[in-house]
Amino acid sequence: MKDLTPRKEELDPIEIASRDEIAALQLVRLKWSLKHAYDNVPHYRRSFDVAGVHPYDLKELSDLSRFPFTTKQDLRDNYPFGMFAVPREKVVRVHASSGTTGKPTVVGYTRNDIEVWAECVARSMRAAGTRPGDVVHVAYGYGLFTGGLGAHYGAERLGCTVVPVSGGMTTRQVTLIEDFKATTIMVTPSYMLSILDEYRAQGLDPRESPLQVGIFGAEPWTNAMRAEIEEAFDMHAVDIYGLSEVMGPGVANECVETKDGLHIWEDHFYPEIIDPETGLPVADGERGELVFTSLTKEAFPIVRYRTRDLTRLLPGTARSMRRMEKITGRCDDMMILRGVNVFPTQIEEQILKIPALSPHFQIELLREGRMDEMVVHVEAARDSAGAEARESSAAMLVARIKEVVGVSVRCHVTEPEQVARSQGKAVRIVDNRPKG
Ligand code: DLL
Repeated sequence: MKDLTPRKEELDPIEIASRDEIAALQLVRLKWSLKHAYDNVPHYRRSFDVAGVHPYDLKELSDLSRFPFTTKQDLRDNYPFGMFAVPREKVVRVHASSGTTGKPTVVGYTRNDIEVWAECVARSMRAAGTRPGDVVHVAYGYGLFTGGLGAHYGAERLGCTVVPVSGGMTTRQVTLIEDFKATTIMVTPSYMLSILDEYRAQGLDPRESPLQVGIFGAEPWTNAMRAEIEEAFDMHAVDIYGLSEVMGPGVANECVETKDGLHIWEDHFYPEIIDPETGLPVADGERGELVFTSLTKEAFPIVRYRTRDLTRLLPGTARSMRRMEKITGRCDDMMILRGVNVFPTQIEEQILKIPALSPHFQIELLREGRMDEMVVHVEAARDSAGAEARESSAAMLVARIKEVVGVSVRCHVTEPEQVARSQGKAVRIVDNRPKG
């Protein structure tokens, strides 16, 4: 793999500024953002008043912990445009995230918000090793989802040639990557695996593909998956994080030279980690739920948004901005099996240690009697044929999960192509337990 480390002169000065400079900028921006939210969004005025705090009470960054949280429910209660802080005519774009239940949550952007977003994605892409002049294949979905258009504007801003493919039609994805000589691909890691299968199905060697950088996010994925993709394509696989409520992709990104967690673009997004049970902030380095406050957003300021994502904050390395560790999972993805907390990423890690298994998997939850059961459905690797081989890799996986994760599960190793394929975010958990 090529060394794609950006030169210092290519970075935004704030990326490598001193911690003091970053904190000073954050304080000025945080004061503005709280006041902007309080003055213009009835929901924030009410919730601050109820909590007995006023934007002027923020004298230093740590005072933020006195302000109330915002949850997805608050956004639903104000559907569709109730959280906007500018007149609707100033909103040049809306996006929405499809909730699993009920109405989607709607977010909005002013012209300036779109500019800032493009800057953040361009910065993320540069960190990942993409350069002006690269051909960027965007296979994140376009539409209400922020992935496609977010990546698109960032790539244009960086000065790349953008190929706006969106998700789906996997055969065509491979044709376009090869014919247009894409050097960067932006896609969910699970869909990248489908693209990998398609390369092999067409008899092409993925290591000969023009791709040098993959910028993967929108769902949790492990370092084991990184190793799998990097080896298969002989390319860098770099993590990008974001969420609609805070902006979209480009809130944080890994640097290609270190791949040691995602630097949060702290000049625009202020991170905190809280204990999800008590809501109290925890120190840097401790695990908990990630909470964000926007520092520059005009149309849709967000104060202490509870992301439900679990991670921890670490000091800067390749940049002075702090890192968040690769996300282990979401509070709502956590399965509790006979008292043990289990995340799909832990299962993924164990699957990838067994060469006879493919990385395509789904977890089914069942109830037998009064006990919850977990069945891991995973496909056999293409070249490992035979029922006997499948039996033995199933037994190996069961043993590994028991030993490392600490739970007893059942494992069903299927023929290739039997587990539902993702064309965007993978569905990892299928809950077939009786309701109620
Ligand atoms: O997924 C934005 C995005 C698009 C990020 C493309 C990266 C690339 P939402 O649909 O609102 O927005 O979903 C946000 O997805 O709270 C996390 O649970 C999850 N997520 C996003 N990026 C990562 C990542 C987009 N790198 C939710 N690792 C977030 C783990 C991620 N989970």
